[in-house]
Amino acid sequence: MHKEFQGNLNIVSYRCPTPYGKGFTELSTGGLVASLYSLKTSYTLNWICYDNVFSKENENGLSIERVKIDKELNDMYYGKYCNSYIWPLFHYISHVDFFEDKYWTAYKKANELMAEAIFKTLKKQELIIINDYHLSLLPKMLKERGFQKVSFFWHIPWIDHEYASRLPNLKDIVEGILGSDIIGFHTREFRDNFIETAKYFNIEISDAKIKNIKYVPIGLNTKLYELSKSSKGNSEMNKQLSRLRRNGNKIIASVSRLDMTKGIIQKVQAMEYLLERHKDLIGNIVLIMVVSPSRTSIREYSDLKKEIDRAVGNVNSKFRTLDWSPILYIYRKISQAELVSLMKNSDIFLITPIKDGLNLVAEEYLLLNDSGMPIISKFAGISDYLNLAPKVNPYDPLEVSETIFNIIREDRKEIRRKNLEMTKIVKSLDIFNWLNNMVL
Ligand code: G6P
Repeated sequence: MHKEFQGNLNIVSYRCPTPYGKGFTELSTGGLVASLYSLKTSYTLNWICYDNVFSKENENGLSIERVKIDKELNDMYYGKYCNSYIWPLFHYISHVDFFEDKYWTAYKKANELMAEAIFKTLKKQELIIINDYHLSLLPKMLKERGFQKVSFFWHIPWIDHEYASRLPNLKDIVEGILGSDIIGFHTREFRDNFIETAKYFNIEISDAKIKNIKYVPIGLNTKLYELSKSSKGNSEMNKQLSRLRRNGNKIIASVSRLDMTKGIIQKVQAMEYLLERHKDLIGNIVLIMVVSPSRTSIREYSDLKKEIDRAVGNVNSKFRTLDWSPILYIYRKISQAELVSLMKNSDIFLITPIKDGLNLVAEEYLLLNDSGMPIISKFAGISDYLNLAPKVNPYDPLEVSETIFNIIREDRKEIRRKNLEMTKIVKSLDIFNWLNNMVL
């Protein structure tokens, strides 16, 4: 795909593309930032997001406006309503006993804050692309303030209306989103679920509007990956990976944020099953599991960190020998060069979240690696698009471990063929395809 839309892009999201005070070199964690930021090669981006300071920064092709949100409001809005209520609920893992109204008040207030900031800086006829579950009330708020071109993309799953309607304020959220001229979801199922939810609340949607409720997966700027692929990656990581290979190991890898939706514990469990059932693999296979710190101030996330540490420790101590351990667990955000090295050199990539809006890691892997195979959770949006990869139930460690085992034994040529077919699909569903669908 290529650039069709002409003009500047106003992007609104909770998360700023770069952390404050670190210049423009370091990107924030997560697929949303990675793919939207990559539009910078073809567009001038104006990014409006929250931070704990007011600031306006500008560097060729990118300006960032940080809208200040106080800690107390942010804890109730981002920490509670967004990430303890909406995020788990929309991944079918809500553990709350009841929802408290004060956090909804904070959510509305934070959306108002963003609406006011946009009202002060943007012209009514400019296109605004709003992103994700933190800002679902903003489209309606902007329409009420006279903005003419509003697009909204929901980056996480939109689940079955019956389960979603546990959230007391769901109707307001649907109405907020419906303020947009264009609304996007990653998959057909999420789009249909959204329309069903609106019907459930007896909200009328005109035929013209229905046409603009779309499903289109966000994608990557694939040209950038072609450049990365021809680069050397990270020399230290390359050295260590070739040492592992010299020792005869098959390399399985995974990369994710630390999050309860990413199926991290389940991956560790699958590794245990694999080694239990196929003793000949002991000493001959490793899982390099990269986990980037995320949302560390939220209790559920620090609890999960401890759980992962424990699970990895158990499996490693059970199977390790003096010169080998099955899981190489890296808890930090790795650089792009390290990612390139890891992806180029791994035979299998585990993309096994227990629920995921899309998952761009699968796409990154295919763009960087020609001969390996991703194993994909059937609960990740990307599984709708990459049909030649094995689809697994991440809750079933037996199935995941046997899938790994079968791929190790599969004909390399056949794997390569499937890999290249899927890479073509990834290229056709790139970020420009997404953007062309999301603009008026
Ligand atoms: C997911 C969400 C994004 C979010 C990202 C990182 O991909 O859909 O909206 O930005 O996670 O999470 P964080 O809370 O650090 O922004």
